[in-house]
Amino acid sequence: MTQDHDPPPEHERPAPSESGGAAGYRGDPAVQQEWDRRYADREQLWSGRPNGALVAEVAGLPVGRVLDVGCGEGADAVWLAGRGWEVTGLEVSGLALERAARHARDAGVAVAWVHAGLAEAALAPGSFDLVSAQYPALLRTPDAAAERALLGAVAPGGTLLLVHHAGFHHQPAHEGGCDPADHVSPAQVAALLDEDWELQVHEQRPRVAPSGGAGAHHADDEVLRARRLR
Ligand SMILES: C[S@@+](CC[C@H](N)C(=O)[O-])C[C@H]1O[C@@H](n2cnc3c(N)ncnc32)[C@H](O)[C@@H]1O
Repeated sequence: MTQDHDPPPEHERPAPSESGGAAGYRGDPAVQQEWDRRYADREQLWSGRPNGALVAEVAGLPVGRVLDVGCGEGADAVWLAGRGWEVTGLEVSGLALERAARHARDAGVAVAWVHAGLAEAALAPGSFDLVSAQYPALLRTPDAAAERALLGAVAPGGTLLLVHHAGFHHQPAHEGGCDPADHVSPAQVAALLDEDWELQVHEQRPRVAPSGGAGAHHADDEVLRARRLR
């Protein structure tokens, strides 16, 4: 269990050139504040173990450059780096990134951290062999900026893997203001796949969940996997 009440020493934080630091954050300040508040509620919000759908879906993929969108406390990023992937973890919460960087350091792996919202990160187009987004809380906008950023980051020949809680987007608004309908769903991303893409998987299946963590009660996943042909 990590101890996250005190800020870590400077050398344990993501390097400013990678994380952006507080001043370099690129994204909506309200989104960052909301997620920092959620992470500050607990020493550790998630299980610390990689997501089951990610583990299953990457099994057949050659290692390469991977972007972990909404990487949270870094469990997936660290797991991927330990298997030879060149990992970039992107996250709006600076507090989560501090924990992720500590997790990577403890595991002895290197990960590049980007402190930004996905749509605002200005990632180089087509620069990742795998874009993984596990239960990302991406807000919808009229221009579908987040959906297009997910797709745009995938290199020709690469894979988009988007996993969400099945049925999440049809739930009523939660107390406290979170409305699932405001968030990007796998179906909305699937609707943007054109002839440059091969839809490989879009299905609901039982979730193989790591034990512990705030999301452990979700029983089923909606899994979208698509390959960019060109
Ligand atoms: C439900 S958590 C999932 C975290 C992690 N992927 C996991 O499976 O443990 C959603 C994450 O998305 C991050 N997030 C929210 N909006 C984002 C955005 N626009 N760009 C990148 N990350 C975002 C949140 O800070 C949070 O860490």
